[in-house]
Amino acid sequence: MRQLIAGNWKMNGESASLAEVEALACWAASSAPPADILICPPHTLVARAVVIANGRIGIGGQDCHPDKSGAFTGDISAEMLQDAGASAVIVGHSERRQYHGETDALVASKARAAWRAGLVAVICLGETEDQRLAGQAFRIVADQVAASVPQDAIGMTTAIAYEPVWAIGTGRTPAAQDITEMHAHIRECLGSVRRQLRVLYGGSVKPDNARQILDLPNVDGALVGGASLRALDFQTIVSVARPGS
Ligand code: 13P
Repeated sequence: MRQLIAGNWKMNGESASLAEVEALACWAASSAPPADILICPPHTLVARAVVIANGRIGIGGQDCHPDKSGAFTGDISAEMLQDAGASAVIVGHSERRQYHGETDALVASKARAAWRAGLVAVICLGETEDQRLAGQAFRIVADQVAASVPQDAIGMTTAIAYEPVWAIGTGRTPAAQDITEMHAHIRECLGSVRRQLRVLYGGSVKPDNARQILDLPNVDGALVGGASLRALDFQTIVSVARPGS
């Protein structure tokens, strides 16, 4: 499976940051990168990033509302992202679950909205540190897969991002064996129909640990936060992806 390296800019980036998209897209066009590339800038930059990327890398949103349109002040629909030229959208990021009270059921409805608009849904899930310390990580992740990944998800339309909450923005990552085991567990939970989904790892992926993480069995790519803000860091991560067909 060809790996996917996705960058989540979170609430970072203004017009000047589009130079990073330009640099990354130029590099991607000239160097045959071993993985698919997706950058998810804030919504204000999506349309301009699409123009700059010019098909050389994918551009996605960071969230969407389940509905197509309506009285939902401040929200954005999957159709609007698609109209702006996005090809994917992140749903269920732990920061949305934590700060906006998003439930598994809402996340599943956002994934369906993404499909409705023709976007790939990158569905995020992962345990908190307390849950891991209490020995509940496998059960929590199984519950999240069951409730936030629709049964009819297929590899063309959906990717999973396993992001242990305690590894996000902390510089800490799980042991290699823990990542391998959790990804195998997620694949098991997905069952036979959904087994073709890419399962990305996210949480403090950096240029200096990317190769080790991307080499692990069952790791089909990465969702990168801080290290996706600079094209050079992100290129370094993409270039150590495991080549696949
Ligand atoms: P960091 O790579 O900054 O830890 O963020 C990970 C993340 O939340 C990506 O969605």
